[in-house]
Amino acid sequence: MKFSECMSRLGTETAFKVLAKAKALEQSGKEIIHFEIGETGFDTPKHICEAAKSAIDDGYTHYEPANGILPLREAIAEDVNRRRRVNVSADNVVVTPGAKPIMFFGIIACCENDDEVIYQNPGFPIYESVIRFIGAKPIPIPLREENEFRMDIDELKSLITEKTRMIIINSPHNPTGSVLTEEDLKGISEIAINNDIIVMSDEVYKDILFEGEHISIMSFNGMTERTILIDGFSKTFSMTGWRLGYGVIPEELAHHITKLMVNSNSCTTSFTQRAGTAALEGPMGEVDDMVSKLKERRNAIVKGLNSVDGITCLNPKGAFYVFPSIKNLGITSDEFENFLLDKVGIAALAGTSFGAYGEGYLRFAYCNSIENINKAVEKIKNAVKEIK
Ligand SMILES: Cc1ncc(COP(=O)(O)O)c(C=O)c1O
Repeated sequence: MKFSECMSRLGTETAFKVLAKAKALEQSGKEIIHFEIGETGFDTPKHICEAAKSAIDDGYTHYEPANGILPLREAIAEDVNRRRRVNVSADNVVVTPGAKPIMFFGIIACCENDDEVIYQNPGFPIYESVIRFIGAKPIPIPLREENEFRMDIDELKSLITEKTRMIIINSPHNPTGSVLTEEDLKGISEIAINNDIIVMSDEVYKDILFEGEHISIMSFNGMTERTILIDGFSKTFSMTGWRLGYGVIPEELAHHITKLMVNSNSCTTSFTQRAGTAALEGPMGEVDDMVSKLKERRNAIVKGLNSVDGITCLNPKGAFYVFPSIKNLGITSDEFENFLLDKVGIAALAGTSFGAYGEGYLRFAYCNSIENINKAVEKIKNAVKEIK
C-alpha cells in the first residue's frame, strides 16, 4: 500500500508506547511502578457517571448537533465567563471528543504552508506533530530550567517574523508543571496583538494548580477575539476515557471547526455530553480532594527525587508532572528511560518525548500512591549507584 507523504510528518505520543512495553513486562511477571501516562488515576466522580447512565436510559444515544448540545455549550460558556472573566456565549463553544481535536482542527483551520507556529519545547508532542503534518513550520521556544520552565518573553519577541501565524501556550504545563505568570501572559498578549498573531491556549490543567488562581490569556484586553482556548473534562474530572473536550473560539472559527467535526466525527457522544453538563453544574468536592491529594504526591516525589544522588527536581506549581534533571548522571534521557523500565521496574518518560529541549530530563506523572512514590524513589536511589 502506498501512503501519502504527509503521514511521514505525523508524530506520536511515546507515553502510549512506554505504557504498552510496561504492560508487556508486567504480563511476563515483572513488577512495574507506573509514572508514564498522563491521567490522574482517580475515578470519575459518581454523580457524573450517574448522569451518563440516566442519559442512556432516557434514550440519548443518537446523533447530536456537530458543535455540541446547547445545554452543555451554555454551561461551558457560563463556566468560562466566571473563571476567566470574559464574555463569551454558547456560539463561541464547539464540543469535541476530547480536547485534542481542537488542537488538530484549530491548527488546520488557521495555518498553512510556510506559516510559522511557535510552540513550547519541551511541550505536549501533538502540537509539533500537527504543525509538521499540515506543512507549516514549527518554531520551538525553549523552556529552560533556569527560568522555571517558563518561556522568556524577550526570546519570544526575537522569534516573531512576518510569517508567524500562531503561538501555542500551555499553562499549567505538560511535561514540566510550570505555570506562566500574569506578567508572562501580558507580554505574550502584547506580542500577539501587535503582530496580529493567533494564540492557542491549552488550559486543560487549569484546575490542577497548587498556588494562586488560574489566569487565562483570553482575559487580557483584545485577546478573546484572537484566542483558541482549549479545555476539557479529561484532567479536571478524571474523564480521559470519556473523550470530552471543547474549544472556546471566535464565532467565525467555530463555524469552520464545526465543519471539520461534520467531516470527521459528525458529533461528540450524546450521553457523554449530558455527563459533561452534570460535571460543570455539580459539586466540585471530589475535584478539590483530588487536587489536595496530588499536592501531597507532588511534595513526596519532589522531596524524594532531590534526595537521589545526581538528580535535581524543581517544585512545579501545577498539573501532575515533575521534570527532574538527570544531567549529572552522565547518560541520555532515552538511556535512563530504558534503564529505569528494563532494570528497575519504573515506567517514566524521557524528556525528549516532549521535544529536543527535553534532553537531560525525565517526566514522571506522579499519579500513584505516596507508598509507591517512596518505593520508586528508594529503587532509583539504589539503581543510580550502578550508573555513577
Ligand atoms: C497539554 C495537554 N493538552 C491536551 C491533552 C489531551 O486532552 P484530552 O484527553 O481532553 O484530549 C493532554 C493530555 O495529556 C495534554 O497533556
